[in-house]
Amino acid sequence: MAIRMLDIAAQLAPIQDQLEAAATKVLRRGQFILGEEVESLERELSEYCGTRFAVGVASGTDALMLALAASGVGRGSQVVTTPFTYVATVQAVTHLGAEPVFVDIDPQTFCIDAEQVKRVVGRRTKAILPVHLFGQCAEMDPLTDLAARRGITVIEDSAQAVGATHHGRGACSLGHLGCLSFYPTKNLGACGDGGMVLTSSEEHYEKLRLLRVHGRTDGYFYHLDGFNSRLDEIQAAFLRVRMRGLADYTRARQANAALYNELLAGIPGVRTPFVPAHNQHVYHQYCIIAERRDDLRGYLKTHGIDSAVYYPLPLHQQRIYQRFRSRGLTVAERTSQAILALPIAPECVNDDAVRSVAEAVRAFYQK
Ligand SMILES: Cc1ncc(COP(=O)(O)O)c(C=O)c1O
Repeated sequence: MAIRMLDIAAQLAPIQDQLEAAATKVLRRGQFILGEEVESLERELSEYCGTRFAVGVASGTDALMLALAASGVGRGSQVVTTPFTYVATVQAVTHLGAEPVFVDIDPQTFCIDAEQVKRVVGRRTKAILPVHLFGQCAEMDPLTDLAARRGITVIEDSAQAVGATHHGRGACSLGHLGCLSFYPTKNLGACGDGGMVLTSSEEHYEKLRLLRVHGRTDGYFYHLDGFNSRLDEIQAAFLRVRMRGLADYTRARQANAALYNELLAGIPGVRTPFVPAHNQHVYHQYCIIAERRDDLRGYLKTHGIDSAVYYPLPLHQQRIYQRFRSRGLTVAERTSQAILALPIAPECVNDDAVRSVAEAVRAFYQK
């Protein structure tokens, strides 16, 4: 039997009836874009993440773009971020005409290295954009301290980290604004695109509500030059059903990770994820550092085990971003050569499957 990374149909099968009932309710009501489901989801997720407000938008990418725009990021601004992330983090910056300033990552958590951020913050820096990569929060205190001193906004890219905590506080509640993605493969996935910006700042909240509807106030009057980026009711209704199972789903991922950690410990050539005591990791991905990574990947494949590489080339080395002339990001470059995501989704991997994967990894290094 093949061991796959993800199987969305299998993930949804146990709640199919509830999902269909939720969608039918919306279809019968006839209110499709923004409405009571979106408002309820905003309330539920702001409570879950620990913020006062939430604003549903059309995708995680848009959530980032609107959060940046609400923070005054635009042409001429710089945003400090990590090159070791999904491209959307940076596209949200460039699409506003702003410039990403890449700094290196921490070799253990793969998240942005706060020490490096301090070195590049300057007059044009408007925001710091850490990414809670793979489901674990970046070290936030040095970033929020620095931001407070310099009058800069901190925006958390929490697309992969819904439910993660840091010093007991939820992802999205640690900076000024936090962004979620509901892309179907995420831990809280919709049946299409969707995203959300969370904040406890009333000023940002009011701006975001305008920005998602063209900057429109009442009638055909416009207060800001906004966007069309709204969450629709079917997505929100679907997500509200999925939220009921989110805590259990997260626990099952964490249990798989704990078993991997135990079984992979001590295999020469393998390093399991590092999680500081003050972090609760939600394991959107379970990523190891593996010597001879590509050979291991091929070996697993011949044994019917899928794996994935996030990310094979850091963003500063991508052709589209070479114009930003970033140098010295050696940890990100090294990490991209050795990182490997193993199957962890509970619908694909039970204890026995984790044992099979770990056994195959061990056998590869004993060859
Ligand atoms: C770290 C990160 N940021 C942003 C996004 C963008 O989210 P979306 O695909 O919903 O636009 C994603 C996922 O796709 C992501 O993994």
